[in-house]
Formats: sequence, C-alpha cells, structure tokens
Amino acid sequence: MTDTQKDQWQAIGSRQTLQSGEFVEFTLATAEKDTDTLPQSGFAFLDGTTPRAYLNQCPHMGIELNWAPGRFMDADNLFLQCSTHGALFKPRDGECIAGPCQGDALTELDIRESNGTLEIRLPD
Ligand code: FES
Repeated sequence: MTDTQKDQWQAIGSRQTLQSGEFVEFTLATAEKDTDTLPQSGFAFLDGTTPRAYLNQCPHMGIELNWAPGRFMDADNLFLQCSTHGALFKPRDGECIAGPCQGDALTELDIRESNGTLEIRLPD
C-alpha cells in the first residue's frame, strides 16, 4: 500500500441532516476496481450526540443488516438488529450481545466531521 492509499476519507453527508434516530446509508468508494467483489455498504447514525458508523455486514453471514432502508433498530429501539436471524448489537461498539454471532462484532468505521460534512475513513 502506498501512503496515498492510507487515510482516505469519504464524505457521506451533511452533519446537520443526521438527526437522532435516523440512519444514513452509503456505499464505500473503492480506490481500485475489483470486479470479483461487490461494493461494501455502511451506515451511520447518532449514538446520543456522537456519530458512529459501521459496515453494513452482519458478522454471522456477511449480509446486510437492515429490515428496510434506514431500519436498523430492534422493536425496543435499544439495539441494532440483523433482520435475517435477529442478532442484536450494541450501538456504542457494535458488539453482538445476542444471536448466532454473540461475542463477535460489527466492523466499526472511523467517522469525523469536517466543515459540517460527515466523513468515514475507508478501511484498508
Ligand atoms: S445473518 Fe445476521 S444474524 Fe444471521
């Protein structure tokens, strides 16, 4: 990897438009076109007032978590939930606390605010 490939940040939207209880979904930009793999997707939300972002990929089977666009929370609105087998994840650190991948975790993405825009750091 060259230095230019490190610390690549991708804008995912305005900080102002990310409201409590809402989710922003995005497709990760890839520096190299790899035709053998699908583009990865992710989602961001506010944990209290702190923006957090994860890959939209359940550690159980590697598929997307959400029930429908923007629907990531369980019925009690406490945990992120995988719609396929119901695994529950803590919003703060992505740890799976119930379900077939208990003890595993979502892949967290670094997120920052830059001039009012939310950016995620592309994974290596
Ligand atoms: S694919 Fe998410 S719990 Fe099975």
